[in-house]
Amino acid sequence: MNIGFIGLGKLGLPVALAVESKGHTVCGYDISENVKSIIDAKKIPYKEIWAQEHLDRSKIEFTSISEVVKKSDIIFVPIQTPHDPLYEGITKIPNKRVDFNYEYLIKGMKSLSEEIEKQKISKIVIIISTVLPGTIRREIKPLLGPHTKLCYNPFFIAMGTTMKDFMFPEFVLFGVDDPEAADTAEKFYKTIHRSPFFKTTIENAELIKVTYNTYISTKIGFINTVMEMCHHLPNTNVDDVTNGLRLASKRIISDAYLTGGMGDGGGCHPRDNIALSWLAKKFNLSTDWFENIMMQREKQSEWLSDLVLENLVNKKIFILGKSFKPETNILTGSPSILLLNLLKEKNKEIEINSYDPFVDKEEPKFDKATYFIGTKHEIFRNYSFPDGSIVIDPFRYIINKNKSVRLISIGNNLE
Ligand SMILES: NC(=O)c1ccc[n+]([C@@H]2O[C@H](COP(=O)([O-])OP(=O)(O)OC[C@H]3O[C@@H](n4cnc5c(N)ncnc54)[C@H](O)[C@@H]3O)[C@@H](O)[C@H]2O)c1
Repeated sequence: MNIGFIGLGKLGLPVALAVESKGHTVCGYDISENVKSIIDAKKIPYKEIWAQEHLDRSKIEFTSISEVVKKSDIIFVPIQTPHDPLYEGITKIPNKRVDFNYEYLIKGMKSLSEEIEKQKISKIVIIISTVLPGTIRREIKPLLGPHTKLCYNPFFIAMGTTMKDFMFPEFVLFGVDDPEAADTAEKFYKTIHRSPFFKTTIENAELIKVTYNTYISTKIGFINTVMEMCHHLPNTNVDDVTNGLRLASKRIISDAYLTGGMGDGGGCHPRDNIALSWLAKKFNLSTDWFENIMMQREKQSEWLSDLVLENLVNKKIFILGKSFKPETNILTGSPSILLLNLLKEKNKEIEINSYDPFVDKEEPKFDKATYFIGTKHEIFRNYSFPDGSIVIDPFRYIINKNKSVRLISIGNNLE
């Protein structure tokens, strides 16, 4: 099939490459010159497994919006719906809640629909962007002409593994507005994988997407609370507790995201929680569950910052790891940066450094200090820390052979 993309950013380009790898002809348009130069130079600036090797041999055509409309049977739209930077999850959450910013998506969908009407041929347009429930019908549908056959198909994709997650998903979530368009899309997905294709209303799809993310945050927040409890309870170890819980795979679902560590992070989860908290307040829900999740994350980071300050060595702190998850350089929504910001806010007298081998070019000079492992990069496991230091490890994976270094393994209280 001929597949078009309006928006070839961090989601769009890897997905376009995945679609191309299944034998489809792909073209795309993006307003950003930067994106055009990434495709022209064939160099992906972010860490995405499989993407670079596919881009090296890709024939994706970067073209105009009118050519995308002319050439494509299906047009995917992964345009950004950003949050205010204050709501990313790397600082304390402001009291006021806000929705995402739909300005870019509205503009992009308006130009696309105008072009489709100009060409007077019916086109299947599938929005991928994350939105809060109710948005597509309220903000997007009224902009569209009769030739735009709309669908809403949000993806469950983790940055860094976008192609893999697109090609091997648990299921495809598909919000239907035009049943014929949905049938064609289902046929298209049969060329990609055999995963279930779940058709539902647009509003259900919007709600499933954001609650999927916040459910993951719930699991992480819950198990991190257990980790904190283990830190206080003699003869407990959070990993033994989770290993037990994992065996209850029928009632407690799966063991994914059930390991104590840092709070939830990344470009989607914290912001989705905060936006849903805005919606919960708008509807005056009896319980704002999403606020609970974010407050757990923030308060636990406060507790970690207190733990660091209680174990201060030489008035100096090193936070090791800045990225939101291991082995990547993506900093968006990083709980490690939240901790750094809380520490800076709390104590201006001490020296606070942070270092991430995936982000920073040069390793700082490590000396006697308090070290906190903010990201579980494999490289830290066998680090040799300076004599007299204290190392705080919320992941319980650091191997310390130096007797003059004190290791605090959070959540391991076994005697
Ligand atoms: N990145 C992910 O892993 C991921 C996962 C799930 C959902 N999402 C959602 O997908 C959407 C896109 O995310 P992203 O990370 O790719 O954002 P991004 O900012 O990296 O990419 C969006 C792209 O759309 C382009 N664009 C904006 N307006 C346009 C227009 N009028 N015409 C053509 N192109 C236009 C931008 O220039 C940009 O390159 C967001 O709603 C996000 O929440 C992203």
